[in-house]
Amino acid sequence: MTTPVLELRDVSVRIGGVQILSDVDMVVGEGECVGVIGPNGAGKTTLFNVTSGFMRPTTGTVLLGGSRIDGVRPHRVARLGMVRTFQNVGGFGDLTVRQNLVLATRGRHEGRIEQAGALLSLDGSWDIAVKDCSLATRKLVGIAVAIVREPRVLLLDEPLAGLATEDRDHVVEMIRRVHTEGTTICLIEHDIRRTRALVDRLLVLDAGRKVAEGSPEELGARNDLVEAYLS
Ligand SMILES: Nc1ncnc2c1ncn2[C@@H]1O[C@H](COP(=O)(O)OP(=O)(O)OP(=O)(O)O)[C@@H](O)[C@H]1O
Ligand SMILES: [Mg+2]
Repeated sequence: MTTPVLELRDVSVRIGGVQILSDVDMVVGEGECVGVIGPNGAGKTTLFNVTSGFMRPTTGTVLLGGSRIDGVRPHRVARLGMVRTFQNVGGFGDLTVRQNLVLATRGRHEGRIEQAGALLSLDGSWDIAVKDCSLATRKLVGIAVAIVREPRVLLLDEPLAGLATEDRDHVVEMIRRVHTEGTTICLIEHDIRRTRALVDRLLVLDAGRKVAEGSPEELGARNDLVEAYLS
């Protein structure tokens, strides 16, 4: 693996007596694209909440670029370079695509706006209010809003959810572009086939535990995993 940029060590989350994550280790190397998969309620979003500062782990540590960030507030974590999108589509609906990106840069990274728009093929939608855009475009706006901040790690929570087949292929292609451009990505997905084709490495969560980890090829060679999680 390349130099670790994100590290979760022995992360557990317990809320109101319920164990939601148990001793999860995850390392994401510089420039990697890692997929987190697993059934509903496995703890995938919770893992992202802990990673991005929205939740403090009950025990365990989270490091970004070698520095501890568990317990650091979300806006600070974002400023340190960990930027996430949410399971439900973000963006301010009444603002245009461009205005959303301008707002996201907060006066910095101005040149990055055009670049991000071109990278995600949003140029045609610049002046359209986000609420009038297709779901696929709104999802891409969410990703664009994240990448104009030039994150060290981009966390995507179910970027393909709710999309029709052809839109899924398009959004996957756009995520691949962001990755190819050099952004380190960690994404949660239920679309296993497309995730296997997109990522360098997969991490399987079930009932709050990491049950498997490896390249799509490695995990795809294990019949037990294919049957339970990969088909
Ligand atoms: N703040 C909370 N308080 C209590 N329980 C919670 C909280 N957040 C999550 N949970 C519970 O933790 C478990 C894991 O939830 P999480 O949202 O992380 O799962 P997930 O893997 O993202 O599921 P999905 O694929 O449906 O999005 C679920 O049983 C959920 O109900
Ligand atoms: Mg979730």
